[in-house]
This record gives sequence, C-alpha cells and structure tokens, in this order.
Amino acid sequence: MLKRKDLLGLYDCSAEEISEILNAASEMRAFLENGRRHSDLLQGKSLITLFYENSTRTRASFELAAKYLGAAEVNIAVATSSVQKGETLIDTGKTLDAMKTDFIVIRHPMAGAPKLLAENVKASVLNGGDGMNEHPTQALLDMLALKQKFGKIKGLKVAILGDIKHSRVAKSNLFGLTKLGAEVYMYAPKTLLPREIERLGAKVAKSREEAIEGADGVMGLRIQLERQHGGLFPSLSEYSKFYGVKDGLLKYAKKDAVILHPGPVNRGVELTPTLIDGETSVIEEQVTCGVAVRMALLKLLSEYRENNL
Ligand code: CP
Repeated sequence: MLKRKDLLGLYDCSAEEISEILNAASEMRAFLENGRRHSDLLQGKSLITLFYENSTRTRASFELAAKYLGAAEVNIAVATSSVQKGETLIDTGKTLDAMKTDFIVIRHPMAGAPKLLAENVKASVLNGGDGMNEHPTQALLDMLALKQKFGKIKGLKVAILGDIKHSRVAKSNLFGLTKLGAEVYMYAPKTLLPREIERLGAKVAKSREEAIEGADGVMGLRIQLERQHGGLFPSLSEYSKFYGVKDGLLKYAKKDAVILHPGPVNRGVELTPTLIDGETSVIEEQVTCGVAVRMALLKLLSEYRENNL
C-alpha cells in the first residue's frame, strides 16, 4: 500500500511506490475500456481542483477520475475566487479542509507551493505541476503509456528533447524512469539545458541523432513561451530547424519506437505534424493513461487515508 498522505513529486518516491502506482493504473486503464465507467470506490469522498495556471489535460482528467470512481468534485476558478481578494494559499487550503475535502489537486507557478499546502491541510494534496519543479502525474502517465506498449520500463531508452530548463515534466520523468531502470537521454540548446541535469541522472547527448539512437521512446517537450524571457534561442523557426524532432530522425530510433509529448504541443516546433498524428505517436494514449493514473492515485491515497488518518 502507498504509505503517504500526499503526492508531491517523484524525487521523493521509491521505485516500489512508483511500480505500485503503475500496477494500479494498468488496472484502471482496462477499466476505462468498460463502457459503463462507473465505480462506487470513492463514494462519499470529495476532490477539489485548485489551479493557479491554465490546464486542459491535468485538471479535466483529475475531475473525470474522481467522477468515474464516484467521488464529488469541484473546481475553484482561481481567477474569480477569494484568492483575488488577497487570501493566502494556506488560508485557502484551511477553508477547503473545513469543507471536509479529501483531495486537493493544485497547480501553482511557484515551486514548492503544493508542499506548503500539504503541510497545512488534512486533505491529501496532489501536485498538478509546480513551477519548474515537478509534474509527477504527467511522468506517471508517460511511464504508463510506455509500459502499455513495451510491457516494462526497465531497460528502455527514452530520449527527451526540448525545453528541459523550464520543464517540470522532464524532471519528474527523469526521476521516475531512472528509478525503474530506464536510461534517459536529453538534448536541447545549451540555454535550455540546466547544468545539474546530469547530476540528477540524465545522459546529455551531443546531437539529436545521438539522443534518438536506439531509443524506445522519443519525447518532444513544449517550448514554454510563457516562461521564456528572451534570448534563449533566436527564433521558433530556428529552434524547430536545429532542435525539433523531424520525421527523418526516427530512423535512428528502434523500429517499434514511439513518439510522446505531454501536450499542449506547438505543432511544427517540437514535433512535425506527421509525427504528432502518425502511427508511432502515443500522444492520445498518454491522455487516456492520464485518467487511469489519476484514478489509481485517488484509490491508493484513499486507502492510506482510511487506514492512517
Ligand atoms: N501536460 C499537461 O500538464 O497539460 P495541461 O497543461 O493541459 O494540464
């Protein structure tokens, strides 16, 4: 059983915990193929999504995950909430606690905000992405999509290309994949590749070809235009030309390699449209795996709460 109240990042999770989540998520992935998609597993429980940044996939899939398992779910629209009147994160959290909320899913531009919230509320806090720190459920769903395809994570080579510097997805994938025995190669312009990434376990490639050579999974990362403050690369078209993943580059990967992207994608920048929509793409499967992973986490954290809190 998962022995934690919150899910804040994969840096702090053991390989056993990550495997347990992926095993439960595989079962939920099968459940999603069932036309009825309803269970009473979380009946009487409640989930609130509290997003200080935009989202389509993460927020909707947490809300659907809660609904499919029978929990009540509510979204706090931060732009029209009392946050705008100056309410602090901790006061907002305590208010949600007082409503007897079981789960709070938070996305926040500040790294560490989910941890601060978790330390001050009784609800289980799930990190839906905090600044440039972590996006653990995204990495778990990426890993589930790879596990669905290859039946394992251990021994896989995954190439991650794009805006590593600003990417919480890259960091969570690095922690999760290497803990389960995969190799992670990264490639980006030097300005988008933090020096400490090798110390964290990544292998830094000297070219796109080296990163992709023999890879089982090739992941493009979104150029985060909202976090760029100029000068990190000359232009989007030059970025695409020299650092984007083009159709011809896939010949360096394994024959059955898959294309991944966390979304939302800048079409033609990180990946060509033919790769995004092609047969090797598992981008839509990643989205479905996102619902399964979030269902699994709600189930496992709920079991922990019933037995320990
Ligand atoms: N991948 C991801 O986090 O997407 P959203 O921003 O749409 O949630």
